[in-house]
Amino acid sequence: MENKIIYPFSNLSKIENLIISNKNLHSSWVEDSVGNHFYNISNASLTMGAANPEIINEITEQYKKLSTGLLIGQGHTSAMELANKLISIFPSFSQVFFSNDGTGCIEASLKIARQYYLQKGFINKKKFISFSGAYHGTSYGSFSLSNIGVKEIYGPTLEKCIEAPFPNTFKSELTSENEVRTKIKEMEEIIAREGADKIAAIIIEPIQSVSGVRVVPKEYLSELKKISKSNDILLIFDEVTTGIGRAGEWSVNNLHNIDVDIINFSKGLTAGYFPLGVTLVKSDIKDSLITMGFPHGSTLAGHPVGCAISQKVLTIIEESNLISNAVVYGKLIKKELENNLVNHPFFGQIRGEGLMIGVEFVNNQDDKNPPPQHFQRIFTEELYKKGMLTLFSNGILSLYPPLNVSSIDADFIIESIITSANSAIKNSNSN
Ligand SMILES: Cc1ncc(COP(=O)(O)O)c(C=O)c1O
Repeated sequence: MENKIIYPFSNLSKIENLIISNKNLHSSWVEDSVGNHFYNISNASLTMGAANPEIINEITEQYKKLSTGLLIGQGHTSAMELANKLISIFPSFSQVFFSNDGTGCIEASLKIARQYYLQKGFINKKKFISFSGAYHGTSYGSFSLSNIGVKEIYGPTLEKCIEAPFPNTFKSELTSENEVRTKIKEMEEIIAREGADKIAAIIIEPIQSVSGVRVVPKEYLSELKKISKSNDILLIFDEVTTGIGRAGEWSVNNLHNIDVDIINFSKGLTAGYFPLGVTLVKSDIKDSLITMGFPHGSTLAGHPVGCAISQKVLTIIEESNLISNAVVYGKLIKKELENNLVNHPFFGQIRGEGLMIGVEFVNNQDDKNPPPQHFQRIFTEELYKKGMLTLFSNGILSLYPPLNVSSIDADFIIESIITSANSAIKNSNSN
């Protein structure tokens, strides 16, 4: 079939080989247009795999009950029930704002932060701080706070956005403890330079996803909370990817007990079965939004079907203990990969929380740059031949198994990666 699609963020020549057919397989398996089967752990949204019968049934039932709805000037029970359920899971927050996707909820949280301070009379608090390597979305606000190197095409971006250095304990020359201390000091300097009275919020992914499962140390997050509180700056967590079980807890905010002011969820919220994003705010922020109203929103945000799916996803996670499953299998996959790859000539590091796992291959432990191109190419081909659909970029393999991953599937992931990494060495040596 002739291609008529402009694919986002994609290399078109590669896509031609990977058109997923219109055919539901079981669990996380998909089929391409020529009949190859792949275990798909390339998409962080897919926390329940494909064709989950309980979710499909919920979708059908919700379409029969209420097939569409609006949250502008009216409401519906599906969104109200989900908002209540979310607040019962995350009781430190008091209100939920619905968006269409990850970008949408980040955008909303930025506007909420500015409005909050405007309402309090701090009219100059407009600036935002984000981190090197951050990815927060594609709209101009969220994109302006993303630092993944494509800004020059679309600039000028939103003004008053400041980039802070990411605390990278793997690539740093310093010990992990010193790295955290250094980066916190740098953040204090940025706040002093830019003026706390001019900064509305600091936004951070507690584990960066697009830049290759880069984990922010718990100590850094705790210190960041202290600094933002003492400077009256809101701390926003972007948990679009990490949230709703992916990182082995309902959120990294819960995992490390950080107590942020605003938190955002999207991907796992509907397990990839419907586009939806949410922003949860604490009660003092809610109060300011209720007084003035919040003049922002999208027509179909908080769609009844998306909200029903999300309620079902949250219930499945609770009833099937999927957060524990994510912790158990996350640890197992990391341990087995580490044990078996530690002597691989290009092995760098395994990191992540729960079922958000990054395997970094490096040229060598001293320079920690990506391994040679021919190794990367052959490794990608070997994974593909094995039937693993993953993300491998700049030497980093990012793994997003479903929260309901089985023991057989975990073994398949481990075995495929080890064999592919070893064959890639053998084949690149003989080339
Ligand atoms: C951390 C993070 N924030 C925001 C987004 C944007 O979400 P969406 O693609 O749903 O707009 C993404 C998407 O990958 C993400 O990883």
